[in-house]
Amino acid sequence: MIKYLDLKAITDSHSEGLHEAISRVVDSGWYLQGEANKQFESSYSSYIGTDYCVGCANGLDALTLILRAYMEMGRLKEGDEILVPANTYIATILSITANKLIPVLVEPNPDTYQIEEARLESVYTPKTKAVMIVHLYGRCAYTDGIGEFCRNHNLLLIEDNAQAHGCLYGDKRTGSLGNAAGHSFYPGKNLGALGDGGAVTTDDEELATMVCTLANYGSSAKYVFPYEGRNSRLDELQAAVLSIKLSTLDDDNAKRVAVARRYINEIHNPLIKVPSAEYLDRNVFHIFPVFTSDRNRLQQYLSDNGVQTMIHYPIPPHKQQCYSNWNNLHFPITERLHSEELSIPCNQILKQAEVDEIIRLLNSFS
Ligand SMILES: Cc1ncc(COP(=O)(O)O)c(C=O)c1O
Repeated sequence: MIKYLDLKAITDSHSEGLHEAISRVVDSGWYLQGEANKQFESSYSSYIGTDYCVGCANGLDALTLILRAYMEMGRLKEGDEILVPANTYIATILSITANKLIPVLVEPNPDTYQIEEARLESVYTPKTKAVMIVHLYGRCAYTDGIGEFCRNHNLLLIEDNAQAHGCLYGDKRTGSLGNAAGHSFYPGKNLGALGDGGAVTTDDEELATMVCTLANYGSSAKYVFPYEGRNSRLDELQAAVLSIKLSTLDDDNAKRVAVARRYINEIHNPLIKVPSAEYLDRNVFHIFPVFTSDRNRLQQYLSDNGVQTMIHYPIPPHKQQCYSNWNNLHFPITERLHSEELSIPCNQILKQAEVDEIIRLLNSFS
């Protein structure tokens, strides 16, 4: 069986470094907010290219804390509208509604699957206060046009960088392109912990301090609580693990891109739509999506032939029961992408022979 993502094999490839790093934390007797956090926050902020990085418990918290911090800072208030792609993972939307802000769902471009820049102006209202772009599937969603739109309307630009660690836009990395970014280190991510983890990156000192405070029960000094905060920390073990894995992230991403390049160049089947060659630009391929109107049959065929696949994602946020008010809304591009998408294995530990086999199977599907 070619696994969709063999996490055990990925962990094994770092075995020595991980065991050493974990032992160091175990032996230190210090498990939260210690040296491992300091070291990871410092190396991740210099890697991303921001002045600050604040570790937190997971990616959803990172995004939720950014929005909450802007509310405490007076930049956002309840009822403000945030433009966000309709085809994102639910967590992006949850971070907005958890703060009683209003997500305004925007259709993606049908070829890049990213928020469609040309649609932003038509959904803008005086209540619009931010755009949350999502570097979905590992591809950079930022465009100069989105940056200009935000500047023209004085909007915050927030990046959901849960899926695109290491992705470059010119010489800048995603996570440094807007006012602030939320990162997830869920184990299956390009930079994944051995458990949950997340971070906020920003150049804004006031925001970084506010996120830190809110993530520490809202405490500005020991036992002093000016804000109603929460507990959201990156633990020392995960921070130590992430420092080890960060050192190979660029190499790992380059291997993903090489697999994706082969898929794009070598899969030719009229029943299966593969992203175009331009999709290779500004991409770290957290996910390699193919599209077909016959998804269930393709998934079954690949499974019968020993290839595990995933779907990202079967039901779009506006059709979920938790957002029943939106269930009658219609986003045709989003709905089509969700009904046709199939993710095929694309990662740094796939062997050439496995990639050959996946290509052969996709080309033989009829
Ligand atoms: C686009 C996106 N945003 C946010 C998140 C939330 O991250 P976490 O699982 O670490 O809370 C995820 C995680 O899967 C994601 O894919």
